[in-house]
Amino acid sequence: MKTILVIGIGAGHPDHLTLQAVKALNRADVFFLFDKGPAKQGLGDVRRELCARLATERPWRFVEASNPERGPDGNSYTGAVRQLNADKQQVFEDMIAQHMADGECAGVLVWGDPALYDSTLRILQAILADGRQVFDYEVIPGITSVQALTASHKVPLNEIGGSVQISPGRQLPARIEAGDSQVVMLDAHQAFNRLRGQGLHIWWGAYVGSADELLVAGPLDDVADEIVRVREQARVRHGWIMDSYLLRHPS
Ligand SMILES: C[S@@+](CC[C@H](N)C(=O)[O-])C[C@H]1O[C@@H](n2cnc3c(N)ncnc32)[C@H](O)[C@@H]1O
Repeated sequence: MKTILVIGIGAGHPDHLTLQAVKALNRADVFFLFDKGPAKQGLGDVRRELCARLATERPWRFVEASNPERGPDGNSYTGAVRQLNADKQQVFEDMIAQHMADGECAGVLVWGDPALYDSTLRILQAILADGRQVFDYEVIPGITSVQALTASHKVPLNEIGGSVQISPGRQLPARIEAGDSQVVMLDAHQAFNRLRGQGLHIWWGAYVGSADELLVAGPLDDVADEIVRVREQARVRHGWIMDSYLLRHPS
C-alpha cells in the first residue's frame, strides 16, 4: 500500500513544525513539491530547506510538478476553484501513479494546517472516490496563520465566551457584533476598508512568523491607510504577499 503524509508545516517560521511533523518528514521516501512559479519561488525554497534540515534519518527524493493556475473567476468563484482542484487532482494522480512504488511513503508539505483553506485533503479524497488510485493517507496538523498572527500580536483570538468567525476577504460581513472576533484571510482587496467608521480595532500581519514579518495594529480608522501603504510596498518588493488580520470592537 502507498501512504501519503499530509504534513502541516506552519505559517512561516522554520520552528513552527511540531515534533509529530518532524517524525513524519523522516518517514517519507519522496516529497511531492508543487512549483507555483517564480513569484512564489520562496515558498518552494522554504519546503526544500525544511526537508534538507529535518529529514535526516533516511534517504529521500523530491518529485516536482508545476502547480496548475486558477483561471478567471467569470461568474463563479467556486466554479473556478473546482476547476483548479480538478487540474490539481490530475497532477497529484500522476505523481502517485508514476513516482511512488508500492509500500512507499510520500510527504506533502502544506502551508499552515491542512484543514484551513487548503485543497490537499479534498483532492486526495476525490482521487480515492474516483477509484483510479489506492492509498492510505494521514494528516499531521500544523500551526495556522491565524495562530501565528495572534501570537505575533500577543493577543487572544476570542473575547471571553465570544465567537470567532474566519472568512475570506470577499465574504467579510458588513458589520461585526460586539464580542465577536473576525479573522480575514485570502484578501487581495483590503476588505477592511469597507468597515471603517464602526469603531473596530484591527491586528494585521503579513509574512507572519518569517524574517520578513510586518505587523500593524490599532483602531481601524487610524491605521487603515498605513496598512494599505505598507501592504502595497511589501507586495511590490516581494512580488507576492500573504497577509491576514483580526477585527473586533475594543472590549
Ligand atoms: C491558501 S490559505 C492557506 C492557509 C493555511 N493553510 C493556514 O493554515 O494558515 C493562504 C492565506 O493564509 C494566510 N496566510 C498564510 N500564511 C501567512 C502568513 N505567514 N502571514 C499572514 N497570513 C498568512 C493569508 O491570508 C493567505 O492569503
